Amino acid sequence: MTDIVRLILVAFCMQWAVAALPAGAVDFTAAETRKILRHGPWPQTATPDPSNRVSGNPAAIAFGRVLFFDTRLSASGSVSCATCHRPDAGWTDGRARSRGQRAVDRNALSLFNLRFNRWFGWDGAQDTLWAQNLRPLLDRREMGIGAAGAARLVRGDRTLSCRYRLAFGVAPGPDVERVFVDLGKALAAFLETLVTGRTPFDDFRDALARNDAAGRARYPDAAKRGLRLFVGRGNCAFCHFGPAFANGEFADAGVPHFAGSGRADPGRFGGIRKLRKSSYTLLGRFNDDPARTTAVKTRHVRLAHSNFGEFRVPGLRNAALTAPYMHAGSLKTLADVVRHYSTLDEERLHAGGERILRRLDLSAREQADLVAFLESLTEAEPRRESAAKPGTSPCR
Ligand code: HEC
Ligand code: HEC
Repeated sequence: MTDIVRLILVAFCMQWAVAALPAGAVDFTAAETRKILRHGPWPQTATPDPSNRVSGNPAAIAFGRVLFFDTRLSASGSVSCATCHRPDAGWTDGRARSRGQRAVDRNALSLFNLRFNRWFGWDGAQDTLWAQNLRPLLDRREMGIGAAGAARLVRGDRTLSCRYRLAFGVAPGPDVERVFVDLGKALAAFLETLVTGRTPFDDFRDALARNDAAGRARYPDAAKRGLRLFVGRGNCAFCHFGPAFANGEFADAGVPHFAGSGRADPGRFGGIRKLRKSSYTLLGRFNDDPARTTAVKTRHVRLAHSNFGEFRVPGLRNAALTAPYMHAGSLKTLADVVRHYSTLDEERLHAGGERILRRLDLSAREQADLVAFLESLTEAEPRRESAAKPGTSPCR
């Protein structure tokens, strides 16, 4: 059979299949199906991070978990990572803008599926997860203990230095910076384990892949109509692309970017500048990968004026658990986010380049459909985590 004949046959069968559907049922064209399939399978297999020698190491994961919940890592002794990243609130704090020792400018990002990120932070100022974890320890508004304070704490505490030794194979040494960076790496080993589980969307996507009509039918029609908007007229999948629903890049989604008191948040523009100045990057001495295999993107990053006001495209898995939304938490609910895209002020967007976002003018039902789809990206039983995993460590 030639390819042409096969194509005609497939097209014929599809027409027949659509015609045979009961009235009102939602089905997808071949082109839509191809787009949908690219958002899986889930979960993806993750490889260890070559820039972090303890990535995937069980002792480092256990050490990172303890550090994450330890308020002694803040100058005031009252703030831990979990203050702003609560396991019971989708690893966020539920606030528009976070508050540690003092208020910060941005909304706390959730900590799901971090191994798939290419850049970290809303502005991508960090190129590794371990470097991102150091930032709150240095920032006085967040935890502000500083490198020396953190290293001193670990060296002086019997349990923490025992855990450090189990994770890294040596006792915490005299090089303050190295001990400090290692804390970021242990935290990274822990955070990499926070991968979201299967969702109703994934079951539907896989049913579509194996052409299982009964499996497909279990996914609600509203979510199907929302999905069609997502990959079609809404063009959402242009940026929220792939299994994690993020293309790893930065964009202007038309959200006002004020950092409070009238100052503009420069977004990616400021992020690139910070990245260039930092010694904690893939180009620096703390990258554990001698071949620098993942450093190419950092070497080639260029600052452009259009980066001003761009923010990282966030992943959408479990987004229903992480309200409020956007870099400064300006939108309260998923319905508000969808309304934002529907009534978007195109004048706000950067003029340069090809326009991806357009005002969508969605009907009330279409908006509800998109929300139903976004909600279907939520796992049934999000994992609960706490500091205590009883009885597993030999360190007392
Ligand atoms: C004061 C609240 C606060 C504290 C404390 C805090 N964070 Fe955050 N976290 C944030 C905010 C806000 C962001 C977004 C930052 C930005 O883009 O500027 C963030 C971003 C992150 C990210 C980036 C996620 C991504 O998708 O890029 C990681 C990872 C992270 N925090 C881990 C930690 C760890 C580990 C600690 C403890 C050492 C910690 N955070 C402490 C508020 C906090
Ligand atoms: C041009 C790229 C682009 C397109 C197209 C796009 N988004 Fe976004 N999306 C972003 C960026 C960038 C952000 C973060 C913006 C900010 O904080 O300023 C975002 C944020 C979001 C958030 C909030 C996530 C969070 O954790 O705060 C949701 C939900 C969302 N988008 C859904 C959609 C939907 C639905 C569509 C289609 C109607 C869509 N997006 C189209 C780039 C895009």
